Amino acid sequence: MQETSSVNSPGASDIYSERVLVLDFGSQYAQLIARRVREQHVYCEIVRHDITAERVAELAPKGIILSGGPSSVYEPDAPKCDPGIFDLDIPVLGICYGMQLMCDRFGGSVRNASAREYGHAHIKITDPTDLLAGLPDETDVWMSHGDQVEQISGLFRPLASTRTCPVAAMRHVDRKQFGIQFHPEVTHTPLGSQILRNFVISICGCEGTWKLGDFARETIARIREEVGTSRVICGLSGGVDSSVVAALLYRAIGDQLSCILVDNGLLRKDEEAAVIAEFSSHFKTDLHVVNARERFLKKLEGISDPQEKRKRIGYEFIECFKEEAAKIEDAKFLAQGTLYPDVIESGAAVDGPAAVIKLHHNVGGLPAELGFDLVEPLRDLFKDEVRKLGIELGLPEDIVWRHPFPGPGLAVRCLGEVTEEKLAVLREADAIVVNEIKSAGLYRQTSQTFAVLLPVQSVGVMGDARTYDNAVCVRCVDTDDFMTATWSDLPYEVLARISTRIINEVKGVNRVCYDISTKPPATIEWE
Ligand code: XMP
Repeated sequence: MQETSSVNSPGASDIYSERVLVLDFGSQYAQLIARRVREQHVYCEIVRHDITAERVAELAPKGIILSGGPSSVYEPDAPKCDPGIFDLDIPVLGICYGMQLMCDRFGGSVRNASAREYGHAHIKITDPTDLLAGLPDETDVWMSHGDQVEQISGLFRPLASTRTCPVAAMRHVDRKQFGIQFHPEVTHTPLGSQILRNFVISICGCEGTWKLGDFARETIARIREEVGTSRVICGLSGGVDSSVVAALLYRAIGDQLSCILVDNGLLRKDEEAAVIAEFSSHFKTDLHVVNARERFLKKLEGISDPQEKRKRIGYEFIECFKEEAAKIEDAKFLAQGTLYPDVIESGAAVDGPAAVIKLHHNVGGLPAELGFDLVEPLRDLFKDEVRKLGIELGLPEDIVWRHPFPGPGLAVRCLGEVTEEKLAVLREADAIVVNEIKSAGLYRQTSQTFAVLLPVQSVGVMGDARTYDNAVCVRCVDTDDFMTATWSDLPYEVLARISTRIINEVKGVNRVCYDISTKPPATIEWE
């Protein structure tokens, strides 16, 4: 993956003119912190924890946040930041490990807490100014730490405490440097956004220039400049990311855009038709639909190993895409829906942290050998921002709020060998699940919802006859990042309607189960 373009370097444009940096000490919440800051309309980037003070000065952030992390500051190889950062005259907020680091740096002490606090805690605020301005005397917060600050040096003063944590928040007596032991970025800290707003707006002095309407305008102008009169190819999948990329490019270059939709026969019911309707009538793009249904099915014949299915689908997709792209003359660029978390997790951001091992098994990324220059207009955005941008660009809510759908599509939800007949059963059952979740007004609240066709038959009775038919499992999960997930606590009436409708309306199914496994240890998909 290429490095982040220089477009967002300081001063390059208005929306990036105010920025906050999150120094990442290995926190599971680093991306969440950045998202919460951006909700305050302030651009926020994650950088590695050992970034030099010189580089920070060059980037000229309005504020610095030191993230939490799994280490203990008193361990010999604990990750530290460049101490010069504290002398830059830029406001600093240390969260959990970040706070302990500040304390350690300025002569306080950190120890392993005798009562390890994990979960809900209640803080008493003794100094409701600056960082904690506007908060009540007492409020709930979310703690997740084994260590805590035991003693602060004379350079700091406490702002809040809990029953077991005497310094739950602190501030430097002269400088704009603050520390909090709890996590303001998680929803379990109900007034967390107010604390972050106090930091970025009141303390750092940001005005809030990060607006997605302006992002759209600036990005459209930049794409025009980058692409000139060349043709750009964009792969459409029906998902929100590729749809937003296509809509953005269409606004930028109109009929210089060609879209390719590979119909692999593994899409959901009516999905292909919805994409075609949107991108051929509403956006009027040059749309190439490749009917490759038989081709994919043939490659999947006799294959039941999940990874082998994925491999074959990924390979076939690239082949189909390549063949179609070769028919489009003068194409110089390929547009892709790479998002900020992909950039960060792949270690491709200029000042970003090292790559993390991803548990996802994404396929569908197109290889460099295709020979196109990449246009990746969403590289700086989180998924929730992509959705807001989609709305700004006039995409219908149905596309913008669509749940993610895996590259290998229904193939990994049709367990065992994939056949046309099994796909037909799964497609119908899946459509009922999604339809009922939408009718109950639960689609936006849930993160992913679908049916899985199990490779088992079970005995049933319909009328007077005995049946020996398929079982379908319904999977519906809530998650923030898809790395962990809980099963959705759906009302019984909704589950009952889904079950009755599937059994009555889908021929070949006589049993419906609901998956009540969390991730981990189960994954969201069954294969
Ligand atoms: P798991 O099943 O690993 O899924 O909990 C996490 C998220 O990734 C999606 N997923 C995939 N996406 N290609 C994709 O593009 C794949 O092979 C793939 N497998 C899982 C899954 O739908 C969920 O959103």
